[in-house]
Amino acid sequence: MSSWNKSSWREKSILQQPTYPNQEELKNVLEELKNYPPLVFAGEARSLKEQLAEVANGRAFLLQGGDCAESFSEFHAQNIRDTFKVLLQMSVVMTYAGGLPVVKVGRLGGQFAKPRSSDFETIDGVTLDSYRGDIINGVDFTPEARIPDPKRMIKAYNQSAATLNLLRAFASGGLADLHQIHKWTLDFAQKGEISQKFEDMAGDIERSLKFMEACGINSKTYRTLRETDFFTSHEALLLPYEEAFTRQDSLTGEWYDTSAHMLWIGDRTRQLDGAHIEYMKGIKNPIGVKAGPSMDPDDLVRLAQALNPENEAGRLNIIVRMGADKVGDGMPKLIRAVEKEGLKVVWSCDPMHGNTIKSSNNFKTRPVDSVLTEMKQFFQVHKAEGTYAGGVHLEMTGKNVTECIGGSFVVTEEDLSSRYHTHCDPRLNADQALELAFLIADTLKDAQK
Ligand code: PEP
Ligand code: CO
Repeated sequence: MSSWNKSSWREKSILQQPTYPNQEELKNVLEELKNYPPLVFAGEARSLKEQLAEVANGRAFLLQGGDCAESFSEFHAQNIRDTFKVLLQMSVVMTYAGGLPVVKVGRLGGQFAKPRSSDFETIDGVTLDSYRGDIINGVDFTPEARIPDPKRMIKAYNQSAATLNLLRAFASGGLADLHQIHKWTLDFAQKGEISQKFEDMAGDIERSLKFMEACGINSKTYRTLRETDFFTSHEALLLPYEEAFTRQDSLTGEWYDTSAHMLWIGDRTRQLDGAHIEYMKGIKNPIGVKAGPSMDPDDLVRLAQALNPENEAGRLNIIVRMGADKVGDGMPKLIRAVEKEGLKVVWSCDPMHGNTIKSSNNFKTRPVDSVLTEMKQFFQVHKAEGTYAGGVHLEMTGKNVTECIGGSFVVTEEDLSSRYHTHCDPRLNADQALELAFLIADTLKDAQK
C-alpha cells in the first residue's frame, strides 16, 4: 500500500475509458476540478461506513437506488424529489413492516459514467462510438455528439452539487419528517393494491405518532422523526474525474473520494491488477464491487482481501447481479468462499443487470417478474447458507415511466414506447419499486420469526 497515491492507477491497465481528442483541454479541466470544493465530507463517508457495519452485522438493511445514468436533459428538481420520495416510501415500508433500520443511498448526484458492452454502436449500417454517459459524450446518434468532451465533467460536477444541495434540504428540511408520510405519495400514483397497502400502513404510522406525541415524543424533541440520513453513490468509472476529487482528510490524514459517499466498481472493470481496483484500494470511503455470473469465488476472495485488508465491517459491499436463472447456482459458491476466509462484507442484491432482455418490439427491458424472482432467491440462498441478505441495489425512478414490463399495474411490451425515457438501462417505476419494497419487507419480517 505504501506505493498508492491518487494517481497510481495510471500505471495499471484500464478499461472502459474515453479517448479525448484534445489532451490539453483535458489537462486544464482536471486542473480546474482539483480546486473545486468537495461534494461530500470524509466524516459523512465514515458515518455511512458505520451504518453499513450495522448492515454487515445483520442489524440494518441497505437500500441503494436511482437512475442507471443521470442525464443533463432530465435534470429537474421534480425528478430528484420524486426519486427521493419513492426511496423514503420504500424505506419506511421496510422499517415498519420489516422491523429494521434502513440505510438509504441514492444512485444520484454523480451517476453519469457508463461502461458499455461494445465500444461502437451501429444503426442502419452507420457505426459510431458508443454513448458513455453525459459526463463523457452525448446520447444523440451523430458523430459530433459522440466525441468525448472534457468540459462535460464540469457540467456533471455542477449538476451533482445542485442535486446534493436539494437532497440535503429534503433530508433535513421537513420533507423527510415522518409526520409528512402522506405527502410522500406521488401525484400520479395510481390507486391500486400497492398504493392502498402503503396508505393503510401510513395510517397506522400516523396513529403511532399521535400516541408518541401524547407521550412527549415529537419532531421537535427527536431528530430522527424529523430528518433522515441520505447518502450518494455512483460507479467510480471515469478515474480522471474521481482522482480530481480525491482529497486528504485533515482530521485523519486518510484519502477520500469526495465526489460521493460511496463508490462502486462495475462488473466490467473489477480486474485484480487493473486500474479501478488500484484506485479503490487507497480511498477510505465505503465501496462496492459488482459480482456477475463470471465472478470466480477465489477471485472474489482475493478482491475482498485487496480492497478491505483490515477486514473492516461496512467497508465492502458485494453487489450480486447474476440474473434470476443464475443466482441460485452461482451465489452459494461465492458466499462459502467469503465465509471460509471470515471476511466481513455486506451482501446486496442487484436484481436488475442480470435480467435485461430485448422486447419483441426492440426495447431493452426487464421483466418485473425476473427482478422479484432474483430478489426472492437471493434471500433464500442466504437463509440456506446461514448468512445475512443485507441490501438491494436498484435502477428505479420516481417518474411514471414504462421501461420494465410487468408489475401490479401491468406494463406490457406495447406500453414500453409510451414513456420510455432512460438514457441507458430500463428502470423500475414508482409502483414497481414499491411492490418490491413490500416483498422485501415481508421477507425481512419472516426472517425475524
Ligand atoms: C450499473 O450498475 O449501471 C452497471 C453497469 O452495472 P454492472 O457493472 O453490474 O453491469
Ligand atoms: Co445500469
